[in-house]
Amino acid sequence: MNGEDTKTLIRSRTDIVDIIGERIPLEKKGKNFFGVCPFHDDSSPSLCVSREKQIYTCFSCHATGNVFSFMMDYEKMNFAEALHYLGEKVGVEVGKIKIKKENKELQKYYDIYDFSVKYFQNNLKAEVGEKARDYLQKRGIDDAVIKEFQIGLSLKKIDDLTKILTVKKYDLVDLNKIGLSSENHDIYNDRIMFPLYDILGKVVGFSGRIYSEGKENKYVNTKETVIFKKGECLYHYHIAKEEARIKKSIIIMEGFMDIIRASTIGIRNTIALMGTALTKEQIKLIKRISKNIILCLDGDEAGKKAAYNIGNTFKEEDIEVKIVTLPNEEDPDSFILKEGKDAFISYIENALNFNDYKIKIMKEKVNFNSIEETTNYINRVINEISTLDDEIRTEIILKRLAKDFNIGYNTLEKKFLNKKNEMDIQKQTQQKIIKKVEVVQKNKYQKALEQIIYFMLNNDWVINEVKKENLLVTDEIERTLIHEISYYYEMTGKISIADMITYLSEKEKLLNSLKNIISNDYMDQVEKETLYLYFKVIKEENLKKQIKVLERKLKNELDPIKQAKIGNEIRALRIGDNKNGSRNYDI
Ligand code: UTP
Ligand code: MN
Repeated sequence: MNGEDTKTLIRSRTDIVDIIGERIPLEKKGKNFFGVCPFHDDSSPSLCVSREKQIYTCFSCHATGNVFSFMMDYEKMNFAEALHYLGEKVGVEVGKIKIKKENKELQKYYDIYDFSVKYFQNNLKAEVGEKARDYLQKRGIDDAVIKEFQIGLSLKKIDDLTKILTVKKYDLVDLNKIGLSSENHDIYNDRIMFPLYDILGKVVGFSGRIYSEGKENKYVNTKETVIFKKGECLYHYHIAKEEARIKKSIIIMEGFMDIIRASTIGIRNTIALMGTALTKEQIKLIKRISKNIILCLDGDEAGKKAAYNIGNTFKEEDIEVKIVTLPNEEDPDSFILKEGKDAFISYIENALNFNDYKIKIMKEKVNFNSIEETTNYINRVINEISTLDDEIRTEIILKRLAKDFNIGYNTLEKKFLNKKNEMDIQKQTQQKIIKKVEVVQKNKYQKALEQIIYFMLNNDWVINEVKKENLLVTDEIERTLIHEISYYYEMTGKISIADMITYLSEKEKLLNSLKNIISNDYMDQVEKETLYLYFKVIKEENLKKQIKVLERKLKNELDPIKQAKIGNEIRALRIGDNKNGSRNYDI
């Protein structure tokens, strides 16, 4: 069986409704299934899954694809991984399928990391690891935790790991490239080694911590590499992903030591930012596993500042996070060690909504003896709550303000309503602008072309008609797409949108165009008569284009004889155009 056959077989044995349904609740309505789209921020069911066509499309963000693209985008797998995963489910062996060269190379890097993890683990268990084991024990990290988080130790020697890996025939160039060696030296010397995982749980880097007093950096982290993309890394994501579904929330912490500590009290719906600023990619990943986000950063000034900034970033995404402020500059690790499980859980349960948190922070720095500062504070609180969509909370806060500052409730409410009104108008204008951009309508020609392609994908007789008609399509992408569809049909004797998506998976432009077409709500079926009308639209447009080219030529032509010739050509086309326009298609 060749690769293409294997892909088609696995695809045809899989039911996309089951695969998506295992991850997102789907509801049957008519022929199709609907759920909340995981690829954009939404709460209404805009994702449509078709059992018949074995594809999904989102009416809102236009995410479109087959079961492979779903697994790749949702589970962040590459194609080979999606194929293996689904192959296993439906009992098709994928072993012999050719994996892309690039993936083979990445696999080599993962193998090197897997080996290095074991090597570091062995060091920690060996005699040379005694001091490091003592350090961990003193920090309350026992053997079970060491095992769970695959903690290890790098040696004092300068080139031990590099030597072992090169003896195993790994290339020094690769070791440099993936951040384990520099020239022919080890990057890590005499540090406790914490593996860093990508979102699928593969080890892609390390953080090495000093364990005796010294002035050097506390942690040394792997540099950014092809497999370790810092902006997409969230420590513990692969575990938190499952836990967050059960606990229905996700807790964000600063460092991986906090995550490790929380796991010792059974809290595993946690991820760590690892000191980096939150990237767009990370936000997307977090939102995907839960929208109930609790920030539990360090209790120091830096942690508070970060909580404020991150809270605002999520607010821009319409998510109100909850904030835990730990006392006495503790981090979750030190707090749990000192105060224990119950105290920590109580802090988590009493996390403040971001708006309440902001109001609390605002209050901290105000001098209430100053009328100006007090007025300022009240205005800021009102501004803040006018972004809320919660009437009860608004009323409670206004009542509290009225009481605290001995101001009439009505005065405050009036002020609030004015502000709210102002904000609503602002929002509406913004929405209008967005709508305007969306409404830029596709012209008749583009629509006709797309619909012809869509009919080809759903009805094999249309493929033959398009071929018979010998339709001239000037747009390269659409023309190639039509060729590819015809070619696929000739090769396999059938047409299937779902398989076409896989077939075009490495031709990005074509695939995007295909996805764009199928994400439109076009009709599946077409009458021959109507199809010919679409053909006519294409032909008329072609003529118009040809005439335009000639007219431009005519303008620039100085030789009267040539001018006359071009003029004749234009006339001929125009007559042809008319003929064409009134031509009767016999059916
Ligand atoms: P912290 O300094 O809060 O570390 O940095 P921690 O979790 O409390 O660690 P311990 O308790 O001292 O062992 C939080 C995160 O910032 C990154 C690390 O990823 C760490 O988990 N960091 C910190 C570094 O990369 N390098 C450093 O020197 C310090
Ligand atoms: Mn700490």
